Amino acid sequence: MEHETKPFLGALETQKINDVPIGRIVSVTGAKAIVMLEGGHVGEDNRLREPKQRPEMGTLFAIDTTNTAVLAIVSALSVPVPAQREGERELWIAELGLVGELWKGADGRAISFNRGVSVYPALGDRVRIASRQELELAFCADRKNSVRVGCIRQDPSIAAMINVDDLLGKHFAILGTTGTGKSCTTALILRAILQKNPAAHMVLLDPHNEYATAFGEWGEVISQRNMQLPYWLLNFEELIEVLMGNAQDRKAEVEILQELIPMAKSRYGTGRGNSQQGLRRSSDMKYTVDTPVPYRISDLMATIDERMGKLENKRDLSPYRNVKSRLEAISLDPRYAFMFGSLTVYDGMAQILGRIFRVPVNSKPITILELTGLPTEIVNVVVSVLCRMTFDFALWSEGQVPVTLVCEEAHRYVPANPNLGFEPCKRAIAKIAKEGRKYGASLCIVTQRPAEIDPTILSQCNTVFALRMSNDRDQDIVKSAIADTGSGLLEFLSALGQREAIAFGDGVSLPVRIKFDELPKHCMPRSSTARFTEKWQKSIGDEGYLEGIVDRWRSSSSTANVESMAMFAETMNFSQGPGPDMGQPPRDTSQRSNGTYPAQPPFGIGDGARTNGSRRREDAAASRAVPSPQQPANGDALRSIRERLQQR
Ligand SMILES: Nc1ncnc2c1ncn2[C@@H]1O[C@H](COP(=O)(O)OP(=O)(O)O)[C@@H](O)[C@H]1O
Ligand SMILES: [Mg+2]
Repeated sequence: MEHETKPFLGALETQKINDVPIGRIVSVTGAKAIVMLEGGHVGEDNRLREPKQRPEMGTLFAIDTTNTAVLAIVSALSVPVPAQREGERELWIAELGLVGELWKGADGRAISFNRGVSVYPALGDRVRIASRQELELAFCADRKNSVRVGCIRQDPSIAAMINVDDLLGKHFAILGTTGTGKSCTTALILRAILQKNPAAHMVLLDPHNEYATAFGEWGEVISQRNMQLPYWLLNFEELIEVLMGNAQDRKAEVEILQELIPMAKSRYGTGRGNSQQGLRRSSDMKYTVDTPVPYRISDLMATIDERMGKLENKRDLSPYRNVKSRLEAISLDPRYAFMFGSLTVYDGMAQILGRIFRVPVNSKPITILELTGLPTEIVNVVVSVLCRMTFDFALWSEGQVPVTLVCEEAHRYVPANPNLGFEPCKRAIAKIAKEGRKYGASLCIVTQRPAEIDPTILSQCNTVFALRMSNDRDQDIVKSAIADTGSGLLEFLSALGQREAIAFGDGVSLPVRIKFDELPKHCMPRSSTARFTEKWQKSIGDEGYLEGIVDRWRSSSSTANVESMAMFAETMNFSQGPGPDMGQPPRDTSQRSNGTYPAQPPFGIGDGARTNGSRRREDAAASRAVPSPQQPANGDALRSIRERLQQR
C-alpha cells in the first residue's frame, strides 16, 4: 500500500506556525462554538499566512484551557459582512464542533486524548490550528489495535487509523454514490484488517463477482460453479420461497410440506438404510420443520405418496401432486444443482460451516460468495441462509469465533420499503445488526442508496465512511445519523474528492475527513464500470468466444422441461457405472482465467463434487467424443434419474 508521508512543512516550522493564534472564541453553546478569525489572508504580523494556516471545512483547531487543549472541528465558514472595498477589514467566522480534548502533562505538552469535552473553552480564548503532535495523539495513539487506511486531509503526514475492535464490534457502513469508490474502500479497509489479523473470519456477499481479485490468496471464492448449499439447510420459509415462490396462493401445498418435512427428517434421523453416514444426534431428538438436519427428497416423496394413498376424495390430491411435481422439477433443474443436486444425502453441516466461516482458516481468512450466476429468483434465499447461519454460527460458537459479514449492495437485501426484499433475509440481517455484537457477529453495510435501506439497520452501524454523495435524500439520512458536533462536515458530502470520505463514529477517534490510500492495481476489485475506450480498440470474437457466451447464458436460464431433463441426463453421463458421487475424486470446477484460485474442495466429503451449467456441457462434449458403450439412450437416462431420485 502506498503511504503518503510527505509533510507540507517541517515539524519545527509547523510548531511555530501552529502556536500563532488565528482567532478567538465569541460564542459557546453546548458542543458548538464560534470563532472570530483574524481577517483576510494576513495574520497579525501582516505576513501572508502559510496554506496550513487557512482554515477549511474539517480543519481541526485547538483551544487551550488550563489543563487541556479542546479539539474542535470546523463545520462552517462565513463572512457575515463582506468588505465593500479592497483592503477593508472584514469579519471572518468559523463555526466549530467541540469533539475531543487532550490532557496536558506538567510541561504543558499534550499526553492523552479523550473523545468528548469535559472542560469547555471560555469567551475570548485563543484558537489555533492543532499541531502535528496533537493530531498524532488524537488519531494515532492506539497503534496496536488500529490499522491505517489513509491519511487525514488536514495533514497528509498524519495517518488515518481505524480501531478494529470498535469498527467491527459495533458494525460499520460504507456509503457513497455509485462510482465514488465504495468497492475500493471496502477492499482497502478489509485488506488492512486482514493484514494484521491473518486468522480472521469474514464473509463477503459479492453480487457483482468483483472482489475475488482484491483479496488474491486470502480469499476462498465460492461461486455458482463450486457452491454446495443443500436444501436441508434452508429453514421452512426459505424452502417455501424456493419451491413455491408466492406462498399466498399455495396454502395447501405449504401445509403439506410443513407436516411432512419433519417426518422425512425423522426417517433420516433414525438412520434408515444409512447407518454409517447417519446424522449425529441424540436419540430422543424431535425435529421441527426448521431444524437444520438432512432429509431425503425420496423420503419426502414417499410420505407424500402414503398420504395420497389414504385420501378418499380425488379432488384433494392436486396439492400433493403439485408438491411432488415441483420437487421433481427442481431436483432436475441444473440451475439448482448446488442446492438439490447432490445424489447422496449426508450430514455435512460441519464441513459446510467450516468452509464458509473459515474454520480452520487455512490461510484464507475471507470467503467471497459470488452471487452472479445463481438463479436470480433465489439469490435472496441464499443470502438469507448465509446471514442466518452467520448469526447462528456466532451464537453457537459462544463468541469464540467472531465473524464479520460484509453486505455489498445492502439496499437489495434490507430495503426500507416493506413490500420489497425477502422478509427472512431482512430479519436475518436485522438480527445481526441488533444482537450480533453480543456474540461476535458483525456487519458491514455497503450501499449507494442509504435512503432506501432499512433505517433501523443503518442506525446500528456505529462507524460510517461517507464518500461523495449527490442525492439530497441520501445526504439527509447520513446527516441524521451523525451526532450534531460534526454534522456541518456533511454539508459538503457532494463536494468530496476521489478517495475522500468523511469518517465518523466509534471506529475513528474523531469525525474526520480522510484521504484513503491508493489500492495497488492488483488489489483493486474488478470495476463494474465498463471501459469502453479500452475495449473498443481491438476486435474480439476468436473461435469459441461466442459459443462460450451462449453456453453460460443457457446454463443460467434453462428450465426443467423434458428437453432439458434429457440434456441433463445426457450431460451428467448417467450410466450403469458408478455415479459422480460414488467414489470418484472431486473435479476441479474452478475456471478462473488468472489461475490464482486453486481448485476448491467440495463442501462435504462424499457429498459428490457435483457441478452444473457449463461444466456439464463440457462433460457432455467429452462423452460425445468418447462414446461409452454403457451410455443409455435419453429415455433410459430419464428412467435412470427417476430411479436415483427414488433412492434418495
Ligand atoms: N482507494 C482507492 N484506490 C485506488 N483507486 C480508487 C480508490 N477508491 C476509488 N478508486 C477509483 O474509483 C473507481 C470507482 O471505484 P469503485 O470502488 O468501483 O466504486 P463504487 O463501488 O462506489 O461504484 C475505481 O475504478 C478506482 O479507479
Ligand atoms: Mg461497487
